Amino acid sequence: MTNTIILGTGSYLPKKVMTNDDWAKLVDTSDEWISTRSGIKERHFAAENEACSDLVVEAAKIAIADAGIDKDDIDLIIVGTVSADNAYPSTGNWTQKKLGIKAIPSFDISAGCSSFLYGMIMANSFIKSGLARHVLVAGAEIMSRIINWEDRNTCVLFGDGAGAVVFGASETEPGILSTYWGADGNLGDLLIQPAGGSAIPASEESVAKKLHSVHMKGNEVYKHAVLRMQEAAMKAIELANISSDDIDLYIPHQANIRIIDATIKRAGIPPEKTFINIDKIANISGGTIPIALDQARKQGRLKKGDNLLMSAFGAGFTWAGTVIKM
Ligand SMILES: CC(C)(COP(=O)(O)OP(=O)(O)OC[C@H]1O[C@@H](n2cnc3c(N)ncnc32)[C@H](O)[C@@H]1OP(=O)(O)O)[C@@H](O)C(=O)NCCC(=O)NCCS
Repeated sequence: MTNTIILGTGSYLPKKVMTNDDWAKLVDTSDEWISTRSGIKERHFAAENEACSDLVVEAAKIAIADAGIDKDDIDLIIVGTVSADNAYPSTGNWTQKKLGIKAIPSFDISAGCSSFLYGMIMANSFIKSGLARHVLVAGAEIMSRIINWEDRNTCVLFGDGAGAVVFGASETEPGILSTYWGADGNLGDLLIQPAGGSAIPASEESVAKKLHSVHMKGNEVYKHAVLRMQEAAMKAIELANISSDDIDLYIPHQANIRIIDATIKRAGIPPEKTFINIDKIANISGGTIPIALDQARKQGRLKKGDNLLMSAFGAGFTWAGTVIKM
């Protein structure tokens, strides 16, 4: 039986740091409001000359080196993002080009903040079916390009960055123990970038109405996020045939510290086993989980044999959970 294991991880955060006080100079907000409501203190923003694939490439180079493989051993690239370089070609295609990797399949998936875990679940299926042996899965965003810089309800919540993981095949190690995913398109309007696609193509009106940016009904999203994050975490634990006591580290999607607190309380995971970095990087949508995974590994928070739980919730709505034995 072939199982899916983590061979290497990498992450990249753009140099520019934007603090809550910096936001308070642009919109009617305060460090106190942002940090109390969300747990966010600062976030990184990309430089003008950086596109999403540039962030992916930086994270991917580190992940490939960490995996100890040649870049041409990679036989599939999946990028999860809602802020792709272009409508097409995909950021996966640009990543392949910029890494100088031979003509392997590469594509993007759009599953909001669940994009990386969706990509991981797909990588697991490709590896288990024998279609691939080394899959590069990245999650990356330049949210600063798709937020409305005048809307205090949303602009302060997001950041830019990329994380990448090289997944490999193993006949001896257990690797991914469980995967769980779902979506409910009925709630799509609650968190949406309305314009720029075929429903509302770019026009002077769409630009004037700021329809090319994130629109979110925060309170509504919050309620669903709490429920689905809990569901995804608890289902992933159940499907792995373990209990919450067996989880050594939990990496939740970092949208709001209050969502994380409610999730761990319900799922029975102690705060000391929960990885938090929302204060430093805010919500990087698809990039959040792989960045946190890389940081957790490099901080020594994960050792061989540990059970790692990850869960996410995002636009769509989408949600996903997974347990992997490191
Ligand atoms: C966005 C969020 C932090 C807002 O927190 P909240 O406690 O629900 O706050 P509310 O939306 O009730 O807003 C309360 C007040 O603060 C104001 N406010 C909103 N943003 C503000 C800001 N940046 N600074 C100061 N005040 C702000 C609102 O206008 C509102 O004022 P009003 O009562 O006079 O109308 C929270 O709803 C949330 O995290 N939602 C989920 C987000 C999420 O998970 N998104 C991504 C999914 S992956």
